[in-house]
Amino acid sequence: MTAGENGAMTPIANPIRVAEAPAPSAIGIPSGSQRIAWSIRDLPELLLSVGSVRPLLVIDTGAVQASGLRPELDELLSPAEVRLFDAFTPNPRCEEVAEAILAAADHDADAVVAIGGGSCLDVAKVAAMGARAPEHAHAIARGEAKPPQDTLPIIAAPTTAGTGSEATHFAAVYIGERKVSIGDPRMRPGSVILDVALHLSMPAMLAAQTGCDALGQALESIWAVGSTPASIQSATAAAERIVPSLAPSVTTGEIDARREMMVGAHLAGRAIDISKTTAAHALSYQLTQRFGIAHGHAVALTLGHIGAWNAGAFGDDCIDPRGPADVRDRVSLAASLLGVSPEGMPGAVRALLSKIGLPTTLKEAGVDAGAIADMASRVDPVRLSNNPRRFTGEELEALLHRAYNGD
Ligand SMILES: NC(=O)c1ccc[n+]([C@@H]2O[C@H](COP(=O)([O-])OP(=O)(O)OC[C@H]3O[C@@H](n4cnc5c(N)ncnc54)[C@H](O)[C@@H]3O)[C@@H](O)[C@H]2O)c1
Repeated sequence: MTAGENGAMTPIANPIRVAEAPAPSAIGIPSGSQRIAWSIRDLPELLLSVGSVRPLLVIDTGAVQASGLRPELDELLSPAEVRLFDAFTPNPRCEEVAEAILAAADHDADAVVAIGGGSCLDVAKVAAMGARAPEHAHAIARGEAKPPQDTLPIIAAPTTAGTGSEATHFAAVYIGERKVSIGDPRMRPGSVILDVALHLSMPAMLAAQTGCDALGQALESIWAVGSTPASIQSATAAAERIVPSLAPSVTTGEIDARREMMVGAHLAGRAIDISKTTAAHALSYQLTQRFGIAHGHAVALTLGHIGAWNAGAFGDDCIDPRGPADVRDRVSLAASLLGVSPEGMPGAVRALLSKIGLPTTLKEAGVDAGAIADMASRVDPVRLSNNPRRFTGEELEALLHRAYNGD
């Protein structure tokens, strides 16, 4: 693979094909409710397995075109009666999601196939949930109603190694500026296609930003109040892949690193599907809204500081019912995956950001120091409640100042 003028990678043929694909368990993907395939060429078989002949195809047109796989995809789907839906933007708006529901209903779709980044997958997941209740399309798309009807099977193929949406039961939809998380177990895709050929076209900057999201999800999941032994296992396996692969997946875009990131992001998705995320994600939303910092990058800018903070859980400020010693053990595990002690986490994440060409502090990223106090006072308390160590407003402000200065 070679990098073009704009940093985009020229796709090459997918070296993992069905015959040689490892069993998911062999690469650390726990057996479970999701069927994993390794090539877009498995799509006809997956459609057959869910009895689909009339799928709604929700695709991120830009991503699929960039991958060079569009002709192959059209051929693979030619026996089916396919309705295409691609009228959505990154960070999809509820109106676009409602249109996807209506398209699925109008087509009388019997499954939804999603090929794209997290935005595309989220549109498809809500469309599958709402397809049999089009009269409630707008309420479902706003997260205000859940249909009692059967929902459609979902086959999801991510094209970014970031959100892990193909593994989760939630979807992010935007109502104006407000992000709404819609959750329903029926939205967890039953089939997943992890095809590295869909990832090779990611420009370096996209690989960097989305890769940071996956890194944050993996590490935060380990110390989350909602973590379980199963989620910690997935999150650990995720971080073991992501930490060494993130930099090469960005700087050289080489296929092995992109594949490791693809699997790592999927495992991180499995982990947060159980545990949810913590303070680094809670803080990221304002950094994105106010200063336009890409989501994954915004997460990474406070990630190491949150880890170091959580390592200081000793007494009453510990929210996790398993107690402070258990929290500290899990933070130590997360830090060891970065190759450092908990105090070294801010520096380790900064070093990683530097390697992938992203600003390493809030200051470098263009945050206005004068906004820090206001940001600290507006963090969503629900999201913060999954962080194992409590913050006072002053403590949160102090942490943001450390992330600003790179202390
Ligand atoms: N459902 C979940 O569990 C979950 C978790 C985290 C985030 N999210 C949501 O996911 C969305 C972000 O998703 P994302 O970070 O994957 O980005 P994205 O889907 O918004 O895509 C960003 C851009 O990258 C392009 N792109 C995607 N894949 C490409 C490829 N292979 N080659 C070239 N270009 C490509 C897209 O066309 C788009 O322009 C947000 O709305 C976020 O809130 C969902």
